[in-house]
Amino acid sequence: MLIEKFPWWQRGIIYQIYPRSFQDSNGDGIGDLPGITARLDYLVSLGIDAIWISPIYPSPMRDFGYDVSDYCAIHPLFGTLADFDRLLHAAHARGLRVLLDLVPNHTSDEHPWFIESRSSRDNPKRDWYIWRDPAPDGGPPNNWLSHFGGSAWEFDAHTGQYYLHTFVKEQPDLNYRHPEVLPAILDVMRFWLARGVDGFRVDVITHLLKDAQLRDEPLDPNWDGIEPYYRLRHIYSRNVDGIHAIVRQMRATLDEYPDRVMVGETYLPNEELAKYYGEHLDECHLPFNFQLIRLPWDAQIVRRAVDAYAAALPPGAWGNWVLGNHDRHRVATRIGQAQARVANMLLLTLRGTPTTYQGEEIGMEDVPIPPEFVQDPPALNQPEIAPIVGRDPERTPMQWDASPNAGFTRAGVTPWLPIAPDYATRNVARQAQDPTSMLSLYRALTRLRRAEPALCIGDYRSVDVGAADIFAYERTAEGAARFLIALNFGARAHTLDLSRVARTARIEMATDMQRRGHVDLQHLEVAPNEGLVMRVD
Ligand code: GLC
Ligand code: CA
Repeated sequence: MLIEKFPWWQRGIIYQIYPRSFQDSNGDGIGDLPGITARLDYLVSLGIDAIWISPIYPSPMRDFGYDVSDYCAIHPLFGTLADFDRLLHAAHARGLRVLLDLVPNHTSDEHPWFIESRSSRDNPKRDWYIWRDPAPDGGPPNNWLSHFGGSAWEFDAHTGQYYLHTFVKEQPDLNYRHPEVLPAILDVMRFWLARGVDGFRVDVITHLLKDAQLRDEPLDPNWDGIEPYYRLRHIYSRNVDGIHAIVRQMRATLDEYPDRVMVGETYLPNEELAKYYGEHLDECHLPFNFQLIRLPWDAQIVRRAVDAYAAALPPGAWGNWVLGNHDRHRVATRIGQAQARVANMLLLTLRGTPTTYQGEEIGMEDVPIPPEFVQDPPALNQPEIAPIVGRDPERTPMQWDASPNAGFTRAGVTPWLPIAPDYATRNVARQAQDPTSMLSLYRALTRLRRAEPALCIGDYRSVDVGAADIFAYERTAEGAARFLIALNFGARAHTLDLSRVARTARIEMATDMQRRGHVDLQHLEVAPNEGLVMRVD
């Protein structure tokens, strides 16, 4: 069995960089491209294979870069195209791939396309966006909601029509039913692919196409009453018939270049998610699988989800797992520090490409943001649910060391978001010195995954253990060492009988980074919050 026959994105680990918060190099309190370049050796030391950088394009920053006003340039805050090329070359020289964030669903309202589109009803770019007359009562054309609060329609007095915006009103949605829009985006892809980027994470790929008749969406009877956006079932504004033809064309464009990868942002149940691989595996290589973010942290629920996902993958498709991102509360906050170690062990021993969000290798936590410092639009627009929907807490600067401003920016500078209060004790420099730290665990896990074919590309099979707190599974590959992983999602100790797997095993790694040695699998003791990776004899 030759591990080399698996493409890099199947063998590899993806690490998400939120550039505003990774490393500031020029003392303006905002992270930038030279900052990332300066930290490449750290990224190599993590044992990851690719970085995905959230948007770095010119943007009025109404949605912190996800409102793009020029797809083929770099925001001066982040640097220049030359800085980008330097980063790309320096990354490649170290064997790291670079994925960019492609944001095709919407532009900024300051993008030249939209400026033209809104200038008059007969402008050639008018229908590049979704414009409609007011309803008879003068209100919005239908009942669609913005993800970030309120109606998804904004009235433009100049031309007397409404335009659609799934996110903030400064992010008008492009119209993929207009024949010129997709080709324009495909050209954007070519611009970066020709420059040497290794692929894209495609933002809200499931939203690109909207119902041709823009029908009202039905109420969701299961709505939990929290986020207004989920009051409706988004059956006409998302995952609409015809979307796959668009994704296929994006993939075909990507495939004009060798060895690139397309990752999709796909919050979907398995059956719909599977379709984003494409009927002939001709859509996303990796439609993101967000189950570890969304599910309650319960061993049996997670086990069932992992088994069901494995069963739902189309033949030949390669899975993936995501533990955190810039839109979701941090894993250490969701489940606590002890379980965050278990979660990293799970992420890095499952079958499928893992994605780590910056800072989660050191257990960074959400940082409470005082109301007067809140910047994120969904929190600003919906103050009553800001603590639930606000994303500033998981976007605070990377904690590099114990110096003022955590090594993120110079002392005396005010960073764009506050530094976590725990930075003096929870930081990269300190954890690098501590062989039992979360960072040491993370590095050891990536090292093991890279070294062991069973962990990297092997098969997965869950194992019955009869203890509700425990999730156990085997990873096997022909001709390679076999591994058994046992994860305790609970705070109680357990003695397990895993003798149906083998009689004995050797602990290769434990979440405490200390426990070692041979174990009798008939009486395997698992400590509270402990995860074990065992080499089966
Ligand atoms: C995606 C991004 C999120 C952004 C939204 C609109 O969900 O991850 O950060 O706000 O799309 O572009
Ligand atoms: Ca800067």
